[in-house]
This record gives sequence, C-alpha cells and structure tokens, in this order.
Amino acid sequence: MKLNDCISVPRLEPASSLLELSPEQRSELWAGVHDAIEIYWRKVTEYPVTPKLDPGPIRELLRDADFSGPIRPSDAIRLCVEGLTRYQTHTSHPSYFGLFNPRASFMGVMADTLVAAFNPQAGSWSASPFAVEVEQHVLRFFGEQFGLDPRKTHGTFTSGGSEANHTACLTALTHRFPEFAVQGVRALRSRPLIYCSTEGHHTHHRAARMCGLGADAIREIPVDRFLQMNTELLADQIRKDRKEGHTPFLVIGTAGTTNTGVIDPIAEIAAFAAREGLWFHLDAAWGGAAVLVPELRHHFEGVHLADSITLDAHKWLSVPMAAGLYLTRHADILEKTFRIDTPYVPQDTDRLDVVEPYQNSMQWSRRLIGLKVFLSLAVAGREGYAAVLRYQTRMGALLRERLQEAGWKIVNQTPLPVVCFTEAEVSETPNDYLAGIAREVLASGKAWISITRLSGNRPVLRACVTNYKTSARDVDDLVKTLTEARTKLRRLHGMPS
Ligand SMILES: Cc1ncc(COP(=O)(O)O)c(C=O)c1O
Repeated sequence: MKLNDCISVPRLEPASSLLELSPEQRSELWAGVHDAIEIYWRKVTEYPVTPKLDPGPIRELLRDADFSGPIRPSDAIRLCVEGLTRYQTHTSHPSYFGLFNPRASFMGVMADTLVAAFNPQAGSWSASPFAVEVEQHVLRFFGEQFGLDPRKTHGTFTSGGSEANHTACLTALTHRFPEFAVQGVRALRSRPLIYCSTEGHHTHHRAARMCGLGADAIREIPVDRFLQMNTELLADQIRKDRKEGHTPFLVIGTAGTTNTGVIDPIAEIAAFAAREGLWFHLDAAWGGAAVLVPELRHHFEGVHLADSITLDAHKWLSVPMAAGLYLTRHADILEKTFRIDTPYVPQDTDRLDVVEPYQNSMQWSRRLIGLKVFLSLAVAGREGYAAVLRYQTRMGALLRERLQEAGWKIVNQTPLPVVCFTEAEVSETPNDYLAGIAREVLASGKAWISITRLSGNRPVLRACVTNYKTSARDVDDLVKTLTEARTKLRRLHGMPS
C-alpha cells in the first residue's frame, strides 16, 4: 500500500514541484541569484583574495543542510552564496595573480546558465544538432587560427587541458600502433616512449599512466638557459632510446609553460618530429590564446605542423570552467581512437555529413561545453579578444618593469604575462625566505601570488596577469605589498633591509 501511495498521481505532483518549483518561486530565485552575482562582481575587490584555510567553519555552515527535510530554496541559495563568498580564492579579484584561473566572461556565465537549463545531450548529433554544430563551429575557428588545414581539422571539447593531453597521448598511440585500439599495450613489441621538457605540465605523466604506459614512459628533456626544451638533448635522448630497442612515438612541446610562460621552439620541434616519424603534440593550454593577437602570432611559427594541440578556453580566454579543446590535423584519428558501435544509441546520422561526439571523444554523455566559448567570442569578436589579451600582456610587461624598479630580479623571458622573480640584491637567500614572502602576501589578503621551482630546483616567486580587470593600479599595489613582505622577512632573517 505504501508503494501505491508513492506512485499515485496526487503524490507525484507535489514531489515534481520540489525539483521544478513554481513560476513565482522561480522568478523570485532568479532575481535573488542575479542580485547575488551582481553584488559579488561589484564588491569582490573588497573581499580578501584568499580565504583562511580552515575546514571547521565550512562544515559548521553545511551542518544546517542535513537533507532530513526540505529547506526553503532561497535559504539554500543564500547558504551557497555565503560559502562561495567567504571560502574561496577569488580569481575574479583583479589582484589574483595566479595559476591561469580567470575572472569568468559574463557571456560565458550566461551560456552555462542556458546549458544547465536546456540540458542538451551533446554526445549525440541527432539528440542535440545545434549543440554539436556550435562546438564544431568553434573548433573549426580555432583550427583556422592555428593554421590547420580546414578540410582535415578535427577536434573535440574536453573538460580541460588534462583530458585534452590524455586524448593526445591516446591518439598518438593509436596512430603509431594501430593495434593498440583493440589489443592494448600488450600488443606492443617494444616500449613506447614520450618526450617533453622538464618544464612540461604534469598531466602528461598522468596521461602516460592512464594509457597504461606508466609515468616513466616520459623522458624529461632538460631546458636551455631560456627554459625552452633543448632540442639537441632531445635528439640525443631519442637516439639513445632507439639504440636500446625502445620506440619513441610522441614529442610534446609547450606554448606557455605553467611555471614561466615560455614557448618551446615549435617549428624546430615540428621539423624534428616529422623527420623522426613522431607525433608532435603542442600543449598550448594557456598560451595558445595568444594566436588571436596579430603581434604575438610569430611566437607560434610552425604551429600548423603540430599533429595535435591542446587549448584551454577556461584559462586565458576567460570562460568559466571547465572548457578545454583538443585539435588535430588528422581527420580520422579521433574516430579510430574512440569509436564504439552500440545497438542502443540511435544510428540515424549515418547518412549525414556530421560528427558524432560520443564516437570521437572519451566522454559519452556530454555537457555542451563549447557554448560559453561561442557566446564569449560572438559578443567580444576576435578583435575584442585580441584587445583584452593585448591589454593583459601590457599589464604583464608593466609588472616586470615595476618589480625591477623595486629591486627584484626577473628570471624568465616570455612575451606572455607571467613573471617569475627573486631577490636582486641578495645572491643567497635563506631557506624558506621566498616562500615566507609568498605567505606574507597571501596572509595580507591583498593579493594572490605563488612560489614555484624552476628546473634545477631554483625557488622563485611567480605572478601571472590572468584577470582581465587587473589594472596598472593593481600592479602597483602588488609591488607595494611584496616590498612590505620583503622588509618583514629581511628583518626576521636578520638581513640588511
Ligand atoms: C601547460 C598546461 N597544460 C595542461 C594543464 C592542465 O589543464 P587543466 O587544469 O585544464 O586540466 C595546465 C594547467 O594549468 C597547463 O598549464
């Protein structure tokens, strides 16, 4: 009887209204969310950039929502707005000089709202033709920006650079070892090896693991004094590995390394890879956006020769997370890598000249990722984007200049807006000295910067202009905060100030 009660129509109506809510409630909630977002966007400069790292009060806040019964929708939203406001590093703050996480473009926010509400199944063309065509349209646009042959360009939207790099590893393996798709790594008679520089991103190591090759299938090639991959050492390593009976199959260059924004010698690596019969993947997750800026394009010479490219729109293109792109100039490689036929997915696109995303990527059910890129690009235009990126590049140059004036030494050379620096006046700094400065800056709540280690284990401070609202004044304020932190640390370590 109880079961009957549950499925009877009168009981279902109020239950479904718990998920859909009434039109009046919806209007009220939209207004509330709109106001909360507006307040956040206008007031974020008044908040500390970083939260206190203490799980206690967050768990206390969540205790009110124990799911034992429904709570008022407006109260539930208020709880989330409070949590997000108080307990996160505000990448929307113009003094967030961080790890490529942007202030989201407003059209990107609109797009994600539309996607959540319409909820297209973007894995299947026949289920969501508009969604799939929008993504293909954007992928073709970026392929063109990178100079790929439009007749052959193919690609897929991914959850980010990590999935795009994993896709690169899988496609390169399938290209070099066609038997891999069916028989897996056990079919390979020699050991497949991957090459990237010591400054390459660690998602490549994980990709090697996830492809069943193991992280030590990656050969890390040392960088030269400009922190670019040393191509002579690359050639030496490959020669040595071939002699030992291994099979090099993939070389990865980076356009905009995570640490220092350095761009590897793309044309040189591309030519080398072609001579050696290797797949050349370019990880342009962050820096790739710069191809939209005419005066920065020459740094990408040879990019059209890459077999595949990673670009993250949720980095320098400032769309909300998560939005990565994998592009390739091999029209059929995604299908060779991922295609599986099933009886339960409708086959009604067989006669159409269209792409089936679930046959061409790791994901099956898919969120429409590309709409936030489409809407942001459509409204800003390519020129608009170029202007924003150019502006951020200028802020990076200004930061470099101001830091030098204030007695810091810049240790990286890049046309992109990421600055690595250390003490200019003191050659030997005590252990933990630079980390202490970074901690002081974070504790001040005035800005976010980080500490990292370059190849050779040198600790350096790192600041990246990643927010399109960062102004010259924010740059000056950061340098002032850094100088105050340095004075304090010098005093603490008994160093001359
Ligand atoms: C060069 C590079 N590649 C790949 C990634 C990984 O991208 P995601 O965080 O979107 O997975 C990053 C992240 O910062 C990166 O800088």
